Amino acid sequence: MCGIVGYTGPREAYPIILKGLKRLEYRGYDSSGVALLNHDLKVYKKKGRVSELEEDVIGKDLHAFTGIGHTRWATHGEPSDRNAHPHRSASGRLAMIHNGIIENYASIKQELVNKGYTFHSDTDTEVLLNFIEDIQQNNNSTLEEALRIALKRVVGAYCILLLDKEDPETIIAARKGSPLVIGIGKGEHFLASDASPIIEYTKEVVYVNDYEIAIIKPDELILKNLGNEKQTPFIQKLDMELAKIEKGGYDHFMLKEIHEQPETIHDCLRGRLNIENGTITMGGVESHLETLTNANRIIMVACGTSWHAGLIAEYIFEELCRIPVEVEYASEFRYRNPVINKGDVIIAISQSGETADTLVALENAKEKGACIFGVVNAVGSSIARLSHAGAYTHAGPEIGVASTKAFTGQLAVLTMMALKIAKAKGTIDDTRYSKLLQELNDIPEKVKLVLQDTSNIEAIAEKYKDAADFLYLGRGYNFPVALEGALKLKEISYIHAEGYPAAEMKHGPIALVDDKLPVVFVATKDSYYEKIVSNVQEIKARKGMVIAVATEGDTIIPGMADDVMLVPDADEILAPLLSVIPLQLLSYYIGVAKGLDVDKPRNLAKSVTVE
Ligand code: F6R
Repeated sequence: MCGIVGYTGPREAYPIILKGLKRLEYRGYDSSGVALLNHDLKVYKKKGRVSELEEDVIGKDLHAFTGIGHTRWATHGEPSDRNAHPHRSASGRLAMIHNGIIENYASIKQELVNKGYTFHSDTDTEVLLNFIEDIQQNNNSTLEEALRIALKRVVGAYCILLLDKEDPETIIAARKGSPLVIGIGKGEHFLASDASPIIEYTKEVVYVNDYEIAIIKPDELILKNLGNEKQTPFIQKLDMELAKIEKGGYDHFMLKEIHEQPETIHDCLRGRLNIENGTITMGGVESHLETLTNANRIIMVACGTSWHAGLIAEYIFEELCRIPVEVEYASEFRYRNPVINKGDVIIAISQSGETADTLVALENAKEKGACIFGVVNAVGSSIARLSHAGAYTHAGPEIGVASTKAFTGQLAVLTMMALKIAKAKGTIDDTRYSKLLQELNDIPEKVKLVLQDTSNIEAIAEKYKDAADFLYLGRGYNFPVALEGALKLKEISYIHAEGYPAAEMKHGPIALVDDKLPVVFVATKDSYYEKIVSNVQEIKARKGMVIAVATEGDTIIPGMADDVMLVPDADEILAPLLSVIPLQLLSYYIGVAKGLDVDKPRNLAKSVTVE
């Protein structure tokens, strides 16, 4: 949440920052702003999208070789010009941007108010900035020293970038909990919340760690910890292509990312799944195979769509590996006092690798001695680095705020893990193992078939776009798919949608059913098929409108449903990789039909770095 960009070097800073903000806009789009440092410190900011800032600054003095920029997802204070970042310090000498939340800002603010400070915004950021300046002035210290002292008092999460009028080539940065990448160019440095604003300039990056402060000049990068000890920057090579973060001819990132799934699932399987010799190669699993096969319990910790992937994995792991699995919302898990025993393994699932709740839940579990296995998409992210071992989903950058290709990547990784563990434990017979390997290998081609002609789904979207509510039902492996379908519809189309286990519907939600309620059944051919056929009949008997995701060749469900979206046949363990695709498309097309911004739905942000 919130995107930050910075630049110092020989080029004009503003165009680099502006482009970077557009790339990071998925992280928040309530307001945006830039601070440009020449001899003067100029701050321009505006409520709304980055394009509104761009319009607003036309004709203004934008010349500077050092600058910072911010795109905001509001936490403290409504979206407005005055709450937009950057903020200026009381003296006007400093400017700062911030991604995160300062939890004890109210007490610090009170101290400053008692000293006579007044505030021009409702943000915690302005409080922190003036706190730093106050320390700097009272202690007659350098900005770096003042920052260090201030950060020791701060409770919460932050990634901040600071500019000082008296030091026009320097950006001072600090992070705890919110991400920061520094790109190293020739005589120039780039800073950003993720690598997407950086890749077209340099592939050499440093991921700043928690509790580190970076002092960045065009030709110098100094990293220190809060104890003022120098740290050696660990320079890594970015494995990301520019084309992957552009729309490539599609109207929206979401549509592009849905259509990328044959390729991204294939990328995820490539080099791991070997049909010829019947093996799965996963370094992270191999290095912890004993721990994983002997696990007494696996706890999946995640949020949102990633949590749904965890729910499907629960069914898969219990079926194949015979290990008890619990799936936890990270936000609940972190605040409970969960029982974590020796022999428990935590599997953390996250696209961004930066979700604050998941990150803190893992830190807590790690402290209690749990083994953490990360299933993460963003390479080098905080969760990836915190994990003892892991497997990347290799879905590439996901820009659309609604998660699509990351979800199927997570399912592919988790399925391979379960198969590998089951094989090592001997809980799967050879025939089933080989069959699942082969079928998993065939999934990208089958996804391609689902995506070949989407006109039917577009027509269904048009037909139901004005419904006020939707119910999504599924059983077994398809129950979490129903939850995911409902979540996608809510976030993209703002239509109220509920996902439910199909059998559970009789215990309450069936009261909602009338001739105006579209009920989406995820009803592919699996061991629950006969049961779900009965559930469809129960809805039809109450005049509900049924939209079904069904298996090609099935005649019974299509015969009962009002509308059908077909997917190829697959083993039930792998069915979610196919059945989720029409649901992603349905929500996309309903969102588009309603004229909504599907890539940036209201109130949301891609990377939830605040709790
Ligand atoms: C839904 C969505 C969110 C994320 C959730 C977790 O489309 O994108 O529900 O799945 O915020 O994010 P990650 O996976 O980055 O931890």
